[in-house]
Amino acid sequence: MNEYSLAVIAGDGIGPEVSAEAMKVLDAASSLFGFAVRKTEYPFGSNWYFEKNEILPDAAFEEIKGMDAIFLGAIGDDRAPVGLIERGIIGKLRFDLDLYINLRPIKLYDERLCPIKGKQPHEIDMVIVRENTEGAYAGMHGFCHKGQAGEVATQTMIYTRTGVERAIRYAFDLARERDKERKVTLIDKANAVRAHDIWTRTFAEVASEYPDVSTDHAYVDAACMWMLKNPEWFDVAVTTNLFGDIVTDLGAMLQGGMGIAASGNIHPGQISLFEPIHGSAPRHAGKGVASPVAAILAVSMMLDFLGQKEAGRVIEQAIIDLLSSQRIRGVHTGDHRTHEIGDMVVAELRTAAARV
Ligand code: IPM
Ligand code: MG
Repeated sequence: MNEYSLAVIAGDGIGPEVSAEAMKVLDAASSLFGFAVRKTEYPFGSNWYFEKNEILPDAAFEEIKGMDAIFLGAIGDDRAPVGLIERGIIGKLRFDLDLYINLRPIKLYDERLCPIKGKQPHEIDMVIVRENTEGAYAGMHGFCHKGQAGEVATQTMIYTRTGVERAIRYAFDLARERDKERKVTLIDKANAVRAHDIWTRTFAEVASEYPDVSTDHAYVDAACMWMLKNPEWFDVAVTTNLFGDIVTDLGAMLQGGMGIAASGNIHPGQISLFEPIHGSAPRHAGKGVASPVAAILAVSMMLDFLGQKEAGRVIEQAIIDLLSSQRIRGVHTGDHRTHEIGDMVVAELRTAAARV
């Protein structure tokens, strides 16, 4: 039997609540589909930081490094210094494990979830490939004359040929594998940020190796407009770290909100991290009303990545069926008790497994 080691960082705010449901679904899938998951839970996050003054200790990082995957609930707390815990946990894992792809599918599972009138599920089905280790997130910043009238603040966006090329190549391979439109759109801002010329050139070079895949291009401002106006134009899109961060929140809205959008931080063939896109939503924490659908879909992505493709597919289908039959009324906070959704998905999995 296949066995996978999994680090679980439930994190802050609603993180623990949605992670519990995601793990409930993972456990059910492992017994129904015949694989084992050895989980190790880690207590890191803002509370741990306040109590122990520790973010992600080296010893834990070394241990996690040897595992097959990481599941992360949510990180972030307004009481902590801005970005400290996010950089120390999510940032460290993304950078130090070289998780160079942030894969963010934007898929409308049910018509009524979309804020755009009349959009059908087949019209909103795209994947954003966000480069995940470079750009504005690389951390090269500084201040000079801090606090004075003449203060200067800088942050350098960096793009390496290797980093850009591997993200673009991943997008082309994905377009082939999806076999939908076989189209890759490059989203950049090369007209204003001239460093993005490296994206333009690399994209053209890689594209020439994929004659069966068509290409398109949109500046990021226009891409935001097209995503709303004609989302059906997108199949796979590839973009920089910062733009990918921004357009995927927009994408999450297209598919129904932060309660449904999932992501994978991936290094093909190596340990990778799966998480809902949403944050810790401290206002809603501890009430048992957050939507765990995004976290459950992150488990589906993780299983697909680990090679348990059937289990991943059946979890996604369970969500689709529960949504289209309106048993899941919505994916906003308060639409359901958090645990109800996990229970419903598990029941659907059992029914699906009994059929095969
Ligand atoms: C995301 C988040 C993170 C990011 C934050 C928490 C640092 O917004 O995963 O999209 O900006 O990448
Ligand atoms: Mg974000």
